[in-house]
Amino acid sequence: MSGTANGSVTVTIDGSNKSMKLPLIHGTIGHSVADIRKMYGEMGIFTYDPGYGGTAACDSKITYIDGDEGILLHRGYPIEQLAEQSTFLEVAYLLLNGELPNASERKVFVQGVTMHTMLHEQIRAFYNGFRRDAHPMAVMCGVVGALSAFYHDSLDINDEQHRRISAFRLIAKLPTIAAWAYKYSIGQPFMYPRNDLTYPANFLYMFNAVPSEPWQPNPVLVRAMDRILILHADHEQNASTSTVRLAGSTGANPFACIAAGIASLWGPAHGGANEAVLKMLAEIGHVDRIPEFISKVKDKNSSVRLMGFGHRVYKNYDPRAKIMQATCHEVLRELGIVDDPLLDLAVELEKIALHDPYFVERKLYPNVDFYSGIILKAMGFPTSMFTVLFAVARTVGWISQWKEMIEDPSQRIGRPRQIYTGPAKRDYVPLAERS
Ligand code: CMC
Repeated sequence: MSGTANGSVTVTIDGSNKSMKLPLIHGTIGHSVADIRKMYGEMGIFTYDPGYGGTAACDSKITYIDGDEGILLHRGYPIEQLAEQSTFLEVAYLLLNGELPNASERKVFVQGVTMHTMLHEQIRAFYNGFRRDAHPMAVMCGVVGALSAFYHDSLDINDEQHRRISAFRLIAKLPTIAAWAYKYSIGQPFMYPRNDLTYPANFLYMFNAVPSEPWQPNPVLVRAMDRILILHADHEQNASTSTVRLAGSTGANPFACIAAGIASLWGPAHGGANEAVLKMLAEIGHVDRIPEFISKVKDKNSSVRLMGFGHRVYKNYDPRAKIMQATCHEVLRELGIVDDPLLDLAVELEKIALHDPYFVERKLYPNVDFYSGIILKAMGFPTSMFTVLFAVARTVGWISQWKEMIEDPSQRIGRPRQIYTGPAKRDYVPLAERS
C-alpha cells in the first residue's frame, strides 16, 4: 500500500457492542478510501459492492480519472496534451515506466518494440484453423492466448527481464495479429510488418496494403491512428484491466492474462461499444427517426441503450470523446467526405441527447466510442475490427497494470467474497423420492 493513512471512519454494528475504526487512506489526488482489510477479522462482516462501483481493489500510479470533472491523466499528464504532442509508443513507455523518455531512452524503446513485430512463422498456421467468417475478436483471443505456447523463454513473471520482453512482444505483435485476422477474413495475403515505418503507419500498412501494389502512408490518417491508439491506451481499473489483474494475481503468464483481457473487452458494454454505435446509427438510419429511437431508449421495458453514451466513472463529457470528435472531422476532411450521413446523424443525436432531461439527470454524456466508429469506418476498417483496434491500444495499459501489480510486494491473489442466497444445508434426496 503506497497511499498515506490519516484519519479513520468508525463502523458500528447496530444493536451490538462491535465497533471499529477503519483507517482512511489518501492518494495523491482524488477520493480517499476506507481500509476494510481487517474488518472481517475484527467484526465478522464483509462489504457488499456488486460491480465494484465503490471499491478500490489496488493502488496504482498509472492513470487518474476525475469522472465528475471529465479529467484523465496518465502518470500525471493530461490526455489532451498526450494526444496532441506525444506518440503512442512514447505513451506506452510512459505507462510502463512512469516517466516520459529522454531522446536516447525513446530510441532504445522504439527499437526494442519494433524488433518484435514479426510473429513466429508457425503462428500463421493457426489462422487456417479459424472459419473465414470468424469474428476477429475470437481470432485475437485464440492467437494471443497461443503466444504463451511460443515464448517459453520469457514466461517467468518474477524475472524483470522476462516481464520486459513479454511487454515488448505483446505491444509489437498485437498489430500484426490484428491485421492478419482481417486479411484472413477477406482472403488477402498476410502482409509482414515493415520496421521502417512508425507503429501506426505499419499497422495501416499491414491492414491496407497488398503485395501487388505500392503503398504510401497518408500522414493525416497515420496521425489519426496514433491518436486513436493513445486515447485507448489505458483507463485505470475498467472491466478488462481488472480482468487482466485478476488473472495475473494467480501468477498466470502475461500472454494468458492479456487474452483474458481481450475476452473481457469484447462485450458491447465495454470495448464492443464502438461497433454497437455504428450498428445503432445504421438502425436509426435518418435524423427524422431520432425521436422515435430516443423514446425507445427511455422506455424502461425496451432495454435499448444509446450506445456511446454514459460511463461508469465519467459523469461529465469524456475528455477522450472531445479529441475523438475533432479527429473525426480531420479524417473526414482529409478523405474528402464532406457529407457523411452517419456523422450528421451522430451530431444530431448528440445534440438532442445533451438537452434531453433523461440524459441530463443521469449525467449521460458521449464517451470515447461515440465518434471512434465513424472515424474507423471512414478509414476503411469494417465494424468487426473496431474492438480489435481498441484491444491493440489497450494492450499497453493492460501490460503496464499487470507489471505494476506483479512488482507490488503487497499483491495477493484476487478473491472477492459473496452473499450466499441459495438454499441452506439440506440432505441429498434419492432419485426415487423426488417429486
Ligand atoms: N442509454 C440509456 N440509458 C443509460 C445509458 C445509455 N447508454 N447508460 C446508462 N443509462 C441509464 C441506466 O438505464 C440507468 O437508469 P436508471 O437510473 O433509470 O435505472 C442510469 O443511466 C445509470 O446506469 P447504469 O447502468 O447504472 O450505469 P453503469 O455505470 O452501470 O453503466 C455503461 C455504464 C457504460 C455500461 C452504460 O452507460 C452503457 O451501457 N453505455 C452504453 C455502452 C457504451 O457506450 N459503453 C462504452 C463505455 S466507454 C468505453 C469503455 O470503457 O469500454
